[in-house]
Amino acid sequence: MRVLVVGGGGREHALCWKLRQSPRLGALYCAPGNAGIAGVAECVPVAADDLAKLLRFAKEQAIDLTVVGPELPLTMGLVDRFAAAGLRAFGPTAAAARLEGSKAFAKELLRHAHVPTAFFGVFADPDDATRYVNEVGAPVVVKADGLAGGKGVFICRTVAEADEAIDELMRRRLFGDAGSRVVVEEFLEGDEVSFMALSDGTTVVPLAPSQDHKRVLDGDQGANTGGMGAYSPTPIVTPALESEIMQQVIEPIVQALAKQGTPYTGVLYAGLMVHDGRPKVLEFNVRFGDPEAEVLLSRLRSDLLDLLARTCEGRLAGETLEWDPRAAVCIVLAAEGYPGAVERGRPIDGLERLAGWANGTVFHAGTRIDDGRLVTDGGRVLGVTALGDTIDAAVTEAYAAVDQIRWPGMHFRRDIGHRALAAERKDGQHGGA
Ligand code: AMP
Ligand code: GLY
Repeated sequence: MRVLVVGGGGREHALCWKLRQSPRLGALYCAPGNAGIAGVAECVPVAADDLAKLLRFAKEQAIDLTVVGPELPLTMGLVDRFAAAGLRAFGPTAAAARLEGSKAFAKELLRHAHVPTAFFGVFADPDDATRYVNEVGAPVVVKADGLAGGKGVFICRTVAEADEAIDELMRRRLFGDAGSRVVVEEFLEGDEVSFMALSDGTTVVPLAPSQDHKRVLDGDQGANTGGMGAYSPTPIVTPALESEIMQQVIEPIVQALAKQGTPYTGVLYAGLMVHDGRPKVLEFNVRFGDPEAEVLLSRLRSDLLDLLARTCEGRLAGETLEWDPRAAVCIVLAAEGYPGAVERGRPIDGLERLAGWANGTVFHAGTRIDDGRLVTDGGRVLGVTALGDTIDAAVTEAYAAVDQIRWPGMHFRRDIGHRALAAERKDGQHGGA
């Protein structure tokens, strides 16, 4: 098969790396890709949201399957446009991608399908939103309805902070039209879990559960980011909780979308808050998480190309996935300033020392070649991903690899996996696995 991957981050590097292992793979292209992806796929200089150029490329190159990494081309209707041209693409249609593109749509669907989530209100008028905040009190969470690059969520400790968030989003339009409506919702406490499943429109197959670290600093402090690290599996998601998530969250949502005439095809990502063993939905994403994809695809033993093709063809019934029993941990190495503005073009040293690394892979998230040198080219730069018999072993292996790499201003969290490690060590003391 001739395959095109759309995107150019760590997730897309992991997708290309894993697709490359499939015996069914013919040619592999990635648009736009990055310096790491260039090692496993042919990079094409087309932006991930340039639907017209992507379509032209796919037609010219007789691409059999296009795999879409990021959310923006999905919410813009890439899959619909490819389908209209008789081309197959992995991911939801624009109508189903509203699950991520509109938080108001997602919350209303959650309510309609009786899926547990924080209680909420949706507002198009800032005065109504403020009145609601005064009624429910703090802490409270204010979210822009539309896509805001992961920055449209405000956790407000006081009513005044919530008023300020409403003002910024709705009156000052910090994120443009994304703030024409807001969701105001209950603040939830607990452990955050990333739960993904493949859906072919009717059949759903769970992927291994994982956890992400959203805050930029150790101890879950500082600004929210796209993710500073991830690990899988997680002790929080027991087999019983996994069935509960499938039955109470994933299946009802997929059924509700099918019933509405907008079936969901692709990977559905539920961001969950688990409290006292019960899951509540924080948000949906309509794509693989990043850096969750790096750890999941490192552990996946099944043929990814086969799985993605079956998903598109509505042939997931009876499918079960095979996983490496080892744990995987990904440490994100970020550029100075991330998650704010960053300077690009800093030379990266030390990767050559990891060339024959047996127990892991360095996925590139934001790199390019400049004058023959590997340099930084984004906020998240590398995702150092290791396997180990335990989370503890994987963490040790990953940080030993991180120690080999440096560039001016590089920063990363030193406590990735801390919650799982605490659980693992407690288990160890009780004589568990
Ligand atoms: P979202 O983009 O909706 O996932 O929000 C970004 C982050 O904000 C989540 O990953 C959570 O850490 C946090 N968050 C979102 N909604 C809530 C909530 N209702 N209660 C507590 N934390 C939340
Ligand atoms: N790591 C969270 C996300 O991909 O949105």
